[in-house]
Amino acid sequence: MNSADVFIDGKWVRPSSGATLDTVAPSTGKKIGTIARGTAQDIDLAVQAARRAFEGPWGQMAAVDRGRLLSRLGQKILEHEDELTALEALDTGKALKLARNDVKAAARYFEFYGGAADKLHGETIPFLSGYQVMILREPRGVTGHIIPWNYPAQMFGRTLGPALAAGNAAVLKPAEEACLSCIRLTELAAEIGFPDGTINLVPGLGEEAGAALSSHDGIDLISFTGSPEVGVLIQKSAAENHVPCVLELGGKSPQIVFADADHTKAIETIVAALVQNTGQTCSAGSRVLIERSIYDDFMVQLTRRFKQLRTGAHDLDLDCGPVISKVQQERVLGFLERAEKDGVQIAAQGTVDPSSSADGYFVPPTLYRMVPRDHELALEEVFGPVLAAIPFDDEADAIRLANGTDYGLIAGVWTDSGARQMRLAKAIRAGQVYVNGYGAGGGIELPFGGFKKSGHGREKGFEALREFTVAKTVVFNHG
Ligand code: NAI
Ligand code: MG
Repeated sequence: MNSADVFIDGKWVRPSSGATLDTVAPSTGKKIGTIARGTAQDIDLAVQAARRAFEGPWGQMAAVDRGRLLSRLGQKILEHEDELTALEALDTGKALKLARNDVKAAARYFEFYGGAADKLHGETIPFLSGYQVMILREPRGVTGHIIPWNYPAQMFGRTLGPALAAGNAAVLKPAEEACLSCIRLTELAAEIGFPDGTINLVPGLGEEAGAALSSHDGIDLISFTGSPEVGVLIQKSAAENHVPCVLELGGKSPQIVFADADHTKAIETIVAALVQNTGQTCSAGSRVLIERSIYDDFMVQLTRRFKQLRTGAHDLDLDCGPVISKVQQERVLGFLERAEKDGVQIAAQGTVDPSSSADGYFVPPTLYRMVPRDHELALEEVFGPVLAAIPFDDEADAIRLANGTDYGLIAGVWTDSGARQMRLAKAIRAGQVYVNGYGAGGGIELPFGGFKKSGHGREKGFEALREFTVAKTVVFNHG
């Protein structure tokens, strides 16, 4: 195979246009490879191949055998851990230690869902006398998957693991900015021996291959992770074909610190949950809400810790790497410039390592103090290493603030009071709430997804298997 091929019906082939896209290393801005510029025609062929697999050998396969294939892929990913780690770090710019975690997580997804494949049971329902009712959980059929560039390897496992475990055949359109690990993972999957057409990979541009997938009338469900704006486009085009969507669209997740919390522990976690992947994480804790009585003290400690943060090329393995692209760098720097113009004050900035290439897409980690509640830094997703600190008055005020954005993905609550922990966990409108911790997306086992503009539907854990299946009611009148 050639990295600029598409994978359709079990074969690596040139995209129908023959066109390619360059892909660059964010640490240097230099070209590191070419990928396919997949077309609507490629997407159409991929959807048809997936349909044949679903109606043929893949759809007929026993759940236990499907599970075995997925588990073997998980194992194979671990056997290639070093290679995949280096590739993911180079392609995304993320620090090596983080890339390694991502590769392990990708393997875990296939292990988890490999084990779950034969544990997806239906139900029976007590009904009228003389009747027996069964609820079958059936796969949707052909699933379309559009994923972003921030965690390509993890997203590959997160979206394909449950879809395949449930018995669907899949077409994946990875992000044009970073998809080398997805190409390599597809190659590993091909070596495992999934039936042709079970997994199809069509790299390309969002507005071309992505739009062709989300508007295709041959898919039965679309799973998308990315920006809210594109999420709207996806839903509109899927609506034309009555195709349901699972959407994960980011957040402005709060870390809420009360006076009685363990501050030292909170600070370590808050900083880690922000700088992870240089802030380019949908579940980044990008707002820290601090009880007013401890605001000044807490900020002294947080500032001290923030100043220690270091940014540099992926292979230096520092706290932060570059952001993904020139476009993203300009987007993040735009937030910093507007904040300066609006008089929002910087409390602390980390440093960019002097060895960093001037052509890399670096942004210093930045902590803002006393951010006004109506400022964009308090409301909008920056998707960069930027943390907004905001004081609150009391518990009711904290809840109001926590729920006061258009998003609702995850939240962290830092307090020793058990009753308050429970009240906040219930009051916060977010798909995950952490108490005295913060999972930045959490484990593979934990259902994950949004309220409001953060999206709908749930991924991870057994919830994802519910999304990728549909209930069918069968009623027997046996007299
Ligand atoms: P995006 O939403 O444009 O890209 C995500 C995926 O959607 C990519 O695979 C892309 O090719 C595809 N796509 C783009 N336009 C499409 C279309 N018209 N039809 C179908 N698919 C399409 O995100 P982008 O431009 O990379 O980043 C912009 C902002 O979005 C970021 O700054 C961040 O705030 C947010 N974002 C959130 C993510 C999350 O994990 N929730 C991931 C990536 C971006
Ligand atoms: Mg875009």
